[in-house]
Amino acid sequence: MAKFKRVLLKLSGESLMGTKSFGIDPEIVEHIASEISSVSKMGIEIGIVIGGGNIYHGLSASKQGVDRVTGDMMGMLATVINSLAIQNALESKKINTRVQSAIKMDEICEPLIIRRAVRHLEKKRIVVFASGTGEPYFTTDTAAALRAVEIKADVIIKGTRVDGVYDSDPEKNENAKMFRKLSYKEALIRNLRIMDLTAITLCSENLLPIIVFNMNRKGNLKKLISGQNVGTIIS
Ligand code: GTP
Repeated sequence: MAKFKRVLLKLSGESLMGTKSFGIDPEIVEHIASEISSVSKMGIEIGIVIGGGNIYHGLSASKQGVDRVTGDMMGMLATVINSLAIQNALESKKINTRVQSAIKMDEICEPLIIRRAVRHLEKKRIVVFASGTGEPYFTTDTAAALRAVEIKADVIIKGTRVDGVYDSDPEKNENAKMFRKLSYKEALIRNLRIMDLTAITLCSENLLPIIVFNMNRKGNLKKLISGQNVGTIIS
């Protein structure tokens, strides 16, 4: 039995790089698509928001002299490339998928129309929301929180390469302690960098739980959806 009916899965662009330093690793995309397909087959309705940092990182670029608004737009375009890669991988597994973009590019994908996205979800199509929020100065974490609230998802699931939220960086500190549960307030006060403040605030105001988990472990997403104790829950 699944614990959730409708979820919003947030993936970072960097998660598509695998061991590469740039771009998209086809093996990783294949792994992600398999994980998603296994829960889609359980009848779970899935929305996806993916970042673009594997191709272009607007905020970092702005530190190197690229205008922030321009940099963020370049980053939003990068999310469209990633969204198409995920759609392609899912459809090769016969999972119906629609991409909707917050910035209109009609020849490439559908425009963002939430009511239509919800219909797609009801028909068990996966909807990939591309172009972030469609506005500069917002992260794709914020876009994920916004879309999750808009489609009335039960939970926002953030896939990472570590098992959950820790009190310090587990890749640098071997004594880092993982939290099982946190409140929004603790997440904000401790500045644990789960998501940016705008995203956490949006989730908190709408009582939308966030689960941070390891997307690289095979079968982990299915475990999480089945209600097993996976990752860290912020609620
Ligand atoms: P239903 O109306 O529920 O049957 O949904 P549907 O998505 O199958 O129908 P529709 O005829 O709207 O779309 C058929 C295909 O065209 C789908 O793959 C859509 O993603 C795609 N599509 C629809 N609108 C657009 C658009 O504005 N631009 C692009 N590029 N593709 C679109």
